[in-house]
Amino acid sequence: MVLKIKNRNQQEIKNNHNSDIKSEELFVIEVKDLNLWYETNQALKNINMKFKKNKVTAIIGPSGCGKSTLLRSFNRMNDVIEGCRVEGEILFNGKNIYANSADIRLNRKKIGMIFQKPNPFPMSIYDNITYGPKIHKIDNSDILNKITNKCLKRAVLWDEVKERLDDSAMGLSGGQQQRLCIARALAVEPEVLLMDEPTASLDPIATQKIENLILELKKEWTVIIVTHNMQQAARISDFTGFMYLGELIEFGDTTQIFENPHKKLTENYITGRFG
Ligand SMILES: Nc1ncnc2c1ncn2[C@@H]1O[C@H](COP(=O)(O)OP(=O)(O)OP(=O)(O)O)[C@@H](O)[C@H]1O
Ligand SMILES: [Mg+2]
Repeated sequence: MVLKIKNRNQQEIKNNHNSDIKSEELFVIEVKDLNLWYETNQALKNINMKFKKNKVTAIIGPSGCGKSTLLRSFNRMNDVIEGCRVEGEILFNGKNIYANSADIRLNRKKIGMIFQKPNPFPMSIYDNITYGPKIHKIDNSDILNKITNKCLKRAVLWDEVKERLDDSAMGLSGGQQQRLCIARALAVEPEVLLMDEPTASLDPIATQKIENLILELKKEWTVIIVTHNMQQAARISDFTGFMYLGELIEFGDTTQIFENPHKKLTENYITGRFG
C-alpha cells in the first residue's frame, strides 16, 4: 500500500461504488488519440481518456507535463494560442468539438472554466453573475434575479453576500471571489466544470470550502480538476489521471491510483520522490 487515503468521507466512497450502472456508463467527454503541439514542442502525446458524468476526475503530474494544456483543449481555449496545432478528437456528448461543424460558442457555454487565481470581473457581484446570461440574451430582471439567487446558493456564497449584491466583487476575500467565479460559471448552465488548481491561491479554510463545494457540485455537474495537491486529489476525486512529459501514464479509480498504482512512475510521483 503506497498512500492511505485519509479524511476521505467513507460514505462518499461507498456512494460512488453503489451509484447506478446507467450513470456509471455515461461519458461526457472522451479524448481520442489527442496530440497537441506549440510550434515544434509536443505538449500532449497520444492522450486517450474518458470522463464520467457526475464524477470528479483529478489530473495530477509535475509542472510542465501538460495538465493545463489538456484542460484548455476541452473548450478549445488553446485555439487562441498562435502556433498551437491539435490532432485527434475530443467528443463532448458524442460529438467531436474539433470537427469543422462544431459550435465553439456552445462548447464554451457548456464547458466552463475556473482558474487558479480568482478572476472576478471588476463590477458588482450581481453583474458578475448576470454577465453571461445577458450575453445569451436573457434580459428579464426577474429571471436574472432568480439566476443570481440560485447560482450564489449553489456556490454556497449567498448567505455571505446577499446584503451586498451591488458591491464590487473586488471587495470579496480570495475564497469568496473563487466561489463567485464558480457561481458565475454556473449561471450559463454548463454541463462540465474545468478547474485549474482552483485552490492554489487560497488558505486552508477557503480551500476546504471549495473542496466541499466540489463534492456538492458533482451531483449535477461533471468536474475535471487539475491539482498539485495529492491529498486534495485523494479527498475529492473519483478518478485520477497521472501525466508525465505530455503523456497520460496512468488513469483509474482514485483509490487504486493512490493505494495500488500499476506504474512505477506513478508510485514515485505520489510518494513524493519527484515533482
Ligand atoms: N501558450 C503556450 N505557448 C507555448 N508553449 C506552451 C504554452 N503553454 C504551455 N506551453 C508548454 O507546454 C507544456 C505543457 O505546459 P502546461 O502549462 O500545460 O503544463 P502544466 O502541467 O499545466 O504545468 P504547471 O503544473 O506548471 O501548471 C510545457 O512545455 C509548456 O512550456
Ligand atoms: Mg498548469
